[in-house]
Amino acid sequence: MSKPFDGAITRFYKEEAPESVRKAIKSAKKDTILDPGYPYPERMDKKEYEGQLAALQIELVKFHAWVRDTGERIAVVFEGRDAAGKGGSIKRVRENLNPRVAGVVALQKPTEREASQWYFQRYVHHLPAAGEIRLFDRSWYNRGVVEHVFGFCMPEQRQAFFRQLPDFEHMLVRDGVRLTKLWLNVGRAEQLRRFLDRENDPLKQWKLSWIDVEGLKKWDAYSDAIGETLALGHTAHAPWTVIRADDKRRARLAVIRAILSGMDYPGKDDELVGKPDPMICGGPEMWAD
Ligand code: ADP
Ligand code: AMP
Ligand code: MLT
Repeated sequence: MSKPFDGAITRFYKEEAPESVRKAIKSAKKDTILDPGYPYPERMDKKEYEGQLAALQIELVKFHAWVRDTGERIAVVFEGRDAAGKGGSIKRVRENLNPRVAGVVALQKPTEREASQWYFQRYVHHLPAAGEIRLFDRSWYNRGVVEHVFGFCMPEQRQAFFRQLPDFEHMLVRDGVRLTKLWLNVGRAEQLRRFLDRENDPLKQWKLSWIDVEGLKKWDAYSDAIGETLALGHTAHAPWTVIRADDKRRARLAVIRAILSGMDYPGKDDELVGKPDPMICGGPEMWAD
């Protein structure tokens, strides 16, 4: 079987990855959580996860009916390093919802024309109308992290982005858009484990990109950029929710709870929804590289 990028992920694992990362991956069992600071040693039990997920998805169905019927506008931003689990979380959120109500926004890299516009312009086009939920798989926060790390924007452009950001988000929120910003925080070993898995699994190879491969060498640059972005993008009107995502199961449940916990829709099961697990979920202080 041919491997994407000529097996660059395996090569990085064997030749360049820090010894501690290689060791952690090598000695891990399937259910071992690799992040050494993670508050649980193992993934959540599958049965328990599936039970909670099913119950929370019923809550999402009620929530989306309320959005449709009342004309609420919901925007959820999913951010995080490559392989943090954005796509998988979004998939679980949408699974049982009407795709016209709950749509994904996953924009390509900007065209030349878009690159010449006001930076936020192309995202504005995809904000929710009445009765819509828009799930952003990456967002305007690209300028804070990936564009900076890869040199796709000039330092002045990034400064302008951070200057405009609080006003931009404040305008949305004041206009009535309910904005939730979720940062999925994956550890270094778990990220590499997922990349290796993607390289070897023909059903997952499409998820690997040149950015992922090159990004492996830029872990620390990413860390710096993420720290700045979380600090500068965390405001009273549009706070970040950081979710430690080494355990995909706990992370997905926390994602759904984070979306629903601030919402008041008919028939809500407050006890079931509750709050996302505070052991893995918090503000920017929860982030660690
Ligand atoms: P994903 O992880 O979302 O599958 P990639 O890893 O390929 O996608 O790219 C990460 C992000 O970087 C994407 O949002 C992509 O649009 C953005 N990106 C890639 N190339 C450029 C570029 N030349 N200029 C600006 N953004 C870019
Ligand atoms: P998947 O999301 O099923 O495509 O899994 C991608 C990779 O993540 C594989 O290496 C899995 O072994 C791993 N994985 C699956 N479930 C979990 C989980 N709950 N926690 C951590 N890693 C997981
Ligand atoms: C995912 O696991 O879906 C990622 O966060 C998307 C990516 O690889 O960039």
